[in-house]
Amino acid sequence: MKSEAIINVRKTRIENIISLPTVPGNLKRISAIIEKPGLTLDELGRFVASDPALASKVLKMVNSAIYGFPGRITAISYAVMLLGLNVVKGLLLGIAVLDIMEKAMRGLWTHSVGCAVAARCIAEKKGIKDPEDFSIAGLLHDIGKVILVLEYQKEYEKAMEVAAEEKIPIFNAEKYIFSNGHADVAMWLTEKWRFPRNLVEVIANHHNPALSRVAPLETAIIHVADIFVRARGIGFAGDSYVPDLNTQAFDLLNLSDVDIKDILLRIDDATDAIYESTG
Ligand SMILES: [Fe+2]
Ligand SMILES: [Fe+2]
Repeated sequence: MKSEAIINVRKTRIENIISLPTVPGNLKRISAIIEKPGLTLDELGRFVASDPALASKVLKMVNSAIYGFPGRITAISYAVMLLGLNVVKGLLLGIAVLDIMEKAMRGLWTHSVGCAVAARCIAEKKGIKDPEDFSIAGLLHDIGKVILVLEYQKEYEKAMEVAAEEKIPIFNAEKYIFSNGHADVAMWLTEKWRFPRNLVEVIANHHNPALSRVAPLETAIIHVADIFVRARGIGFAGDSYVPDLNTQAFDLLNLSDVDIKDILLRIDDATDAIYESTG
């Protein structure tokens, strides 16, 4: 199937998210603060604390199944100190896209939360330090879809139709319509938001983990988490097709049957709790 005209998704336009008319004010405001050069944890903490509505959403999110801290965290200053700059930045973006994700694509928020939980769980099983970083990567891995839907709604609907008709994954269907797909868009934005190189690479290559050079293990974790959540039938990510699991990435993780069972259970438990904790 060939499309008549491929929409040229321009990097400079996407990077300038603050001026995109379709992007809601909350996301623009958060984008503006997190892309500031030299932003400190203190500064970001003050930004959150100065907005009571945002502060309460941050506490709700930190105490949700996404992060899974055993004790309840009640103070912003403690949450910020505990999580660090990049996790707080990711968390703020998660809050900013929560509403628009559900409007842009029903089920994408649940898919993203499922992926965040699965990725953190795999990271814990692999004994990786700071598994919260994986919550962020999981939560934001498909943020490019949100931006594409906001900017090119009709065309993205067409991509979803192509995926359904041709029984192909949405990331392949995007290629018929757009010059760049959601992983590229997310890569441009996470670079612009000054996230660490590892996180940018993980998000850029989550459908093609073999391309990962700096962070192959981290990319494998998000790739496998994404497929597990889809295979479990949780949420919606633009198509009803479960993409092939990259065997190299899967082998790299070396998960036992017990690990896999446990990860799937954690995804089920967490997604059951989502609506109460973040709704
Ligand atoms: Fe994706
Ligand atoms: Fe995904």
